[in-house]
Amino acid sequence: MEEQIMEVKIRQSGVKDLPGVGAATAEKLESAGYRDLMAVAVATIGELVETTGVSDAVARKMINAARESMKMGFETGTDVLKKRELVCKISTGSDAFNLMMGGGFETSAITECFGEFGSGKTQVGHILCVNLLSTDPDAVAVYLDTENTFRPERIKQLAEGVGICPEDALNRIMVARAFNSDHQMLLAEKVESLISEGKKVKLLVVDSLTSHFRAEYIGRGTLAERQQKLNRHMHTLAKVACTHNICVYVTNQVQADPAQFFGDPTKSVGGHIVAHASTFRIYLRKGKKGSRVAKLIDAPNLADGEVCFHVEETGLKDVN
Ligand code: GTP
Ligand code: MG
Repeated sequence: MEEQIMEVKIRQSGVKDLPGVGAATAEKLESAGYRDLMAVAVATIGELVETTGVSDAVARKMINAARESMKMGFETGTDVLKKRELVCKISTGSDAFNLMMGGGFETSAITECFGEFGSGKTQVGHILCVNLLSTDPDAVAVYLDTENTFRPERIKQLAEGVGICPEDALNRIMVARAFNSDHQMLLAEKVESLISEGKKVKLLVVDSLTSHFRAEYIGRGTLAERQQKLNRHMHTLAKVACTHNICVYVTNQVQADPAQFFGDPTKSVGGHIVAHASTFRIYLRKGKKGSRVAKLIDAPNLADGEVCFHVEETGLKDVN
């Protein structure tokens, strides 16, 4: 009980409660994206000095106070196991794909699918929405659409395929179109407000994670800034996934890697920042006879593997 009260207090207290932070500094912090104590607790002194203009000593005090007020302590392996028991798996519709993923796409984790155009990344996003809604009558899916590829018609078709009411399915998917990377980052932060409104969000699709970042930051000189912003975005997504037990599914493009002479000369956008922040990473590509191949290349507790399936009207189907 006491713990709960403490947690509520932490959640309600914002950056303006930190020592040395007046109204003006609070505003600067908030507009630079440091909206809660966690963001300040994990910031560096240099970052805070740069964004707010306070002295090193004040920045250090702010960070220390933020750290002290957070429960950044340790928990036992048993506690972690208890939390793991709450993890749900969202079916892909393909038995082979589910098996490779240990049952389906996990909540409390970020799963990234990267691959070339038409490899099926967006289809997987639509299918996960419908499969979640068909197994949990109260669940809600959130779809952050950056490329204008969300198709309600496709949702209706897939809903009919799994035998749920198409209108009900559409009513339980909250779609937001992101027009640039800042907008995308803001929308990801707003998912928490949907949850506090009482919506049982279990899936967050970000399709695509990197297209705006890639289009807005061109050339070597802007790379550091792009990666810093992507890092903050991934941090928001990871926090949403873990604090609310949500499955975060992100799609990513590939770019030619001229350094690779043998094998598949493609690599995903976003580099190590995206790769390390994703819990599961899947490489999607086109296979033989119109099939699609999904290769699991990174997972904390699953063996690497490769499966083949078809994208069909009613959803994903195994290759016989
Ligand atoms: P980009 O966003 O362009 O990078 O591609 P993507 O990886 O998101 O590809 P997407 O998920 O849009 O896959 C498109 C492919 O899915 C099409 O080329 C079709 O082969 C297949 N597809 C999409 N809709 C249907 C459908 O209703 N029925 C069938 N059978 N296949 C479909
Ligand atoms: Mg797509």
